[in-house]
This record gives sequence, structure tokens and C-alpha cells, in this order.
Amino acid sequence: MSLTRKSVWWRDAVIYQVYPRSFKDSNSDGIGDIPGIIEKLPYLASLGIDALWLSPFYTTPNKDGGYDVANPRDVDPTFGSLTDAEELISEAHTRGLKVIFDVVPNHFSSEHIWFKEALLSAPGSAARARFHFYDGKGSHGEIPPNNWNSLFNGPAWTRITESNGELGQWYLHLFDSSQPDLNWDNPEVLEDFKTTLRFWLDRGVDGFRIDVAHGLAKDDIHADHRDPDALTRALRVDSSGMSKEERISLLTDMPFFDRDGVHDIYKEWRKVIDEYSGDRMTVAEAYIYPTSRLARYVRPGELHQVFNFDFLLIEWDAAAIKESIIRVLDELKDVGAPPTWALDNHDSPRVVSRLGNVDQARALALIAHALPGSLYIYQGEELGLPDGELAPKDRQDPAFIRSNGKDLGRDGARVPLPWEASKPNFGFSSGSPWLPQTAAYKEFSVDTEDADQGSFLNLYRTSLGLRKQHTGLGGDSEIHWHDAPEGIVFFSRTAGFILLANTTANTTEVNIHTAAVIIHQSGPGAFIAGSIVSIPGNTTLWLQQ
Ligand code: BGC
Repeated sequence: MSLTRKSVWWRDAVIYQVYPRSFKDSNSDGIGDIPGIIEKLPYLASLGIDALWLSPFYTTPNKDGGYDVANPRDVDPTFGSLTDAEELISEAHTRGLKVIFDVVPNHFSSEHIWFKEALLSAPGSAARARFHFYDGKGSHGEIPPNNWNSLFNGPAWTRITESNGELGQWYLHLFDSSQPDLNWDNPEVLEDFKTTLRFWLDRGVDGFRIDVAHGLAKDDIHADHRDPDALTRALRVDSSGMSKEERISLLTDMPFFDRDGVHDIYKEWRKVIDEYSGDRMTVAEAYIYPTSRLARYVRPGELHQVFNFDFLLIEWDAAAIKESIIRVLDELKDVGAPPTWALDNHDSPRVVSRLGNVDQARALALIAHALPGSLYIYQGEELGLPDGELAPKDRQDPAFIRSNGKDLGRDGARVPLPWEASKPNFGFSSGSPWLPQTAAYKEFSVDTEDADQGSFLNLYRTSLGLRKQHTGLGGDSEIHWHDAPEGIVFFSRTAGFILLANTTANTTEVNIHTAAVIIHQSGPGAFIAGSIVSIPGNTTLWLQQ
């Protein structure tokens, strides 16, 4: 096993996503906060991660879990204070952890001072030009400027009442009506974001996750979409009932996403990042098709990483997994950016619930942990947490509310974490949690799993520990694929690392043509006789040659 490492930190960092509202509450209001994150830094450092990414904690009316930002340069009192945010950065750094903050450039909250000014100003004014305000169509302007839908269902336009009390212009919101889209053709918008980036860079953040990074440039809004309702369905993570071909055709060439103009914006952002020392980085959230276009976001002079969401949807199937890994690496090879991998995030069903099988989730995790590039872990994923079970009355996601419950939304993945099995609310809060925790979360609590050698948590700890030492894991090195029986993933990497995954339900034998020992496994029962490895169903093995 080789012990030499490593290039720039973010090229193969393990980055842990904290969703602050659901992580740890320190003041008994039932909502997680920054002091709660500081309290749990020893736990986070003990996982063997390299960095934290925090979902937004900025001033917000919380219509979309804080992705509706009313002041990107201050902390919402629910989460603490600016001093708490500064302390978090310095405490994390003391423990050797980098810190990444979320920025939300596609829209502001309607509570942002700019939007309030826009509502009070006249059509055509400079204040309105920071957003997308247009007159409606029809003899009384009663028809929205185009037929686009909000990603959260319903029209993407809301008509305002002008200061004279009459119905007036419409504004665009690709998300909730409380999230007016910003007009990135307006240089004032870019200047304001540069100020925000510098504000946090000056305070020591190591990077930014860019929300809806593919949304900032839009096509001419006067053109209607051919089938806006189908497009809304295609954009949902759960777009069941639609063929893959239909979905891809709708997601290709969307009028408001992945327009060429976004790249000019990121070239400007990159100049700001490069003003700072210390290998600061950016990662783009860009949910687009074809995925080959993702590489455009990480060309030299643009961003550093772009999320690859393949594994949020991947089937537990060797051929699909191999195809995905090969494609993702291939798509990025010309631009030199590292790939990223994620099984979970705050917008998607948790992997255990999605696959409906814990063994498969453990085995898929060990594949993701072994790949080149950077690994993102969403809070609770390391516990094998399933989605929380919620009654309709408890759900808060605007996607649920705006679809009248047709779209269940994302709250299931946002239920607060269980820390201690025997404490009220499993140690998350001594107040009433903002989303009720499922009773079964008790058995997933950190203290319970800590004490169990076979737990999900200890599986992750072992993976991340090995990743730190072994040059055949993470890193930039290539993957060598080997022939294998159907249903088996078989590849090797540098320094004698071999991975075997059995995606079938039955024990399968594979001849690896070399001697090797097992260094990590997602489940029990494997054995090696000579060069023949016997792998139980739904199991991944890490071998050392
Ligand atoms: C975030 C979501 C949010 C949306 C609008 C995203 O992609 O991850 O949680 O609802 O952007 O800001």
C-alpha cells in the first residue's frame, strides 16, 4: 500500500454536506444551528472527511429551506450570528477541515431589499432591471409573458400589484414565487455577487457550492416552450411514468438552463476566487442533459468541480454502474477537472430508501468511495439513514405545497439527525424538531452505530480511513476494467487496489488471476481460494494485491 499523497486538496476531497436546519440544535428551538455544528466538529473530524459544505444559513424567510436568501452577507438569527459563522470557520480549520458555503445566484428571496425596492419602483426602472419584470400578454396584460412553469409546479410568473393599486407587471421565478430570478444581464448583479464572494473569502471560506449554477442565463423570454408541463415532470427527481428517451429529449436544450451565457459569468467569478491564496474552490450544481455539457463548467478559467448526479439515480446493476463511471471519467478527461460522486443530498430520496435494500446501499457506497476524484456525503448518509416518514401536515417543501401534494417533495431526506438513542428527539434538540423524527431513527443514532462494529457508520469510517492512506483510492489515477461474469463490477487501480462488486442476489466466483487479500467489505461471507474470489450477493469487496 503506497502512502504518498496528494495533489490540491479539493481534487479528491471527501466533502460532508451539512443541512444546518437538521443537523444539531443548540438552543432548543427545534431547528439546527451553527453552534450545534461547532459542537459536533469532533464527530465530523472523526469521520475522516476533508471538508464541510454548509447548505444556506443566511437571512431568510425560509420558504425554501434557506435557498431563498434575503441577505447573503449575514446569518439568519435562527442559525446564530455572523460571529458564530466566523467561529465555525476557524474551529473547523483548527481541526484540519476546510469549509465550503452555498451561494444562491439564480434568485434572491422576495424579502431581499432589492426586490422590495423593485416592487415600489416603476416598470422600466433600474430597480426592476435587477430581476425579470415584464408586461403580460393579452389586452389587459393578464397572460404571463410566456408559458414556463416553476420547477416547484404552477406558473413561473407572478403578477404584482403596482403602487397605484392596479394589477401590473409579472416577474419570473423558476422556483417559488418568493424566489424572484435575478437578471444576470445586469452588471449590478455580478458586482453584488462578487461582493458576496469576497465577503466570505475574506472570512476564510475555502470554497462555494453554487446553487442552480446552470440557471443564470435565460433565452429570450418571449418564446413559449413546446410542452411546459412535461418539462416540469421531467425535471423532478422522481419523474416516473415518463420514458427515459422522452425525459432526455425534454431536458436537452431547456430555455432557462445551461445557456451558453452562463460561462461568461463564471469566468468573472473565477477571477475573484483567484485573487485569494489557499486553493479556494467552487463546485457547480448543474442538473443538465446531455451530461457531456457538464465539462464546460470546469474548463480552465471557469469553475473547479461540477456535481455528477448519476449515482443519485443509478440502478443497482453492474452494467449501468460501469457505463456511468466510464462515461463520467471520459466526459471530463479533456478539461482536466476531477469527477465528483454523491449518493445522497438534501434534494433527493436517501439511497437506502431509494434502493430499498441496505446491503445494496452499503455495496454502492463502497464503489463510490473507491473512485477517482471527490466524494460528497450528505449528513446521515454515513448512518445509513432512510427517509423520514412524514404526514402531509408536516411537510414544508414548496414543491409539495405548490403541487397540492402530488409531488411529495424533499422533506423526507431533511428530517433531523439522531445523535443519542436514549435522549429526547434522539439528542437532536431538547425542543420539538421542525420536522418530526421517525421512531425507527433511534436505531440509526450515532452513539448506537458507534458501538456496533458492523454499522453503516463504521463501514464509512473504515472507507474514509483507507482513502487517506491508499493511493489507489480517490486521487487522479485511472481505472482498469477487467472482464467479469454478468452482474459483477471488477476494476483495479494503482498500488494494487482491486474492487469487486456483486450486484446479483447470488454468491458468484470470480477469478482475479492474482493473489490478494480483502481489506474492506460491505458485508460478510466473502472468501478467497488462490485467485478465486467468492463474493456473496449485493456485496462489494476491496482487495489488496
Ligand atoms: C437546491 C434546492 C433549492 C433550489 C432552489 C437547488 O437545486 O439544492 O434545495 O430548492 O436549488 O434554490
